[in-house]
Amino acid sequence: MNDTMTLSQRADALEQQMSDELDYIVVKSRLYSLADADMSPPPNAGAMMAKNPKARVLMGDDPRLPAMPEKPTLIDFFHYRFGPATHVLQSARHAVNAGLPEKMVLACLLHDISTMGFIRGDHGYWGAQLVEPYVDEEVTWAIRAHQVLRFYPDEAVGYEYPASYVKTFGADYRPDDYVEADYKRMRDHKWYMSGRMITVHDIYSFDPNVHVELEEFTDVIGRNFRQPKEGLGFDNSPVAHMWRAMIRPAKYL
Ligand SMILES: [Fe+2]
Ligand SMILES: [Fe+2]
Repeated sequence: MNDTMTLSQRADALEQQMSDELDYIVVKSRLYSLADADMSPPPNAGAMMAKNPKARVLMGDDPRLPAMPEKPTLIDFFHYRFGPATHVLQSARHAVNAGLPEKMVLACLLHDISTMGFIRGDHGYWGAQLVEPYVDEEVTWAIRAHQVLRFYPDEAVGYEYPASYVKTFGADYRPDDYVEADYKRMRDHKWYMSGRMITVHDIYSFDPNVHVELEEFTDVIGRNFRQPKEGLGFDNSPVAHMWRAMIRPAKYL
C-alpha cells in the first residue's frame, strides 16, 4: 500500500493482502479423482504455488469445513462430518421399539456411518472397521454383515429383497462374487441373526413424519461405545488414521 491510495483503494488492497495470506491450495486424493473418472497426473503443487507464492497446500484444518474439537467424540462426527443422519436415527428408533438389546440399537445407529462420512462402496466393511476398537465384537460383525445380508431375503424374519434395490440397481443386478461368498459364510455364523436384525430395521421410510434426535441415543452411545479419551483419530488405535481422514479429508500428506 502507498500514500497515494484512496481510502477505498486501501481497504481493497488490505482485503487482497489478507485473502492472499489466507489462501491455500487443495490437492485432492487420487480416490476423488478416480471417482470423477479423472486419470490425469496428480496436480503439481509447485506449479500451483508458482502462481500464488503465498498459498500453501493444506496440511492443517480445512477452513471450508466445520471446525472439529481437539478430542472429537462420535457425537462430534455426527454433528460436524457425517451427512444427514435421519436414516440411521430412524433405524435405531425402530430397533428400540422392537425391543432389541442396546448394543444392537447402537449397531443400527452406526450401520451406515461409512456412507455418511467416508466411502460408499463396501460401506459395511469400512463402517465395521471404523468402530471395531470401540464396540462389542458382535456389533462390528453385524455392521459388516448388514450390507451383504441386505441382498438376500430371509422369509423367517420377514425380510424381503428391497424393492428400492430393484429400482436403483436394476432387476437383473446380481451381487459380486465376494459378496455371495461372504453371504455363504455369514449365514452359518453364530451372529448371523445380529447382522440380519440390522437389515430388518434398515428401513428407508417407515414414517416420514417421525423426527428422531441424536440426543435420544446419548446414553446408549455412552454405555456401548468406548469413546477414547484422546479423541477419535488421536488414540493410536489401528483405525485412528481413518477418523483423521474424515477430520482433514484434503490433507496434502
Ligand atoms: Fe447399509
Ligand atoms: Fe441403512
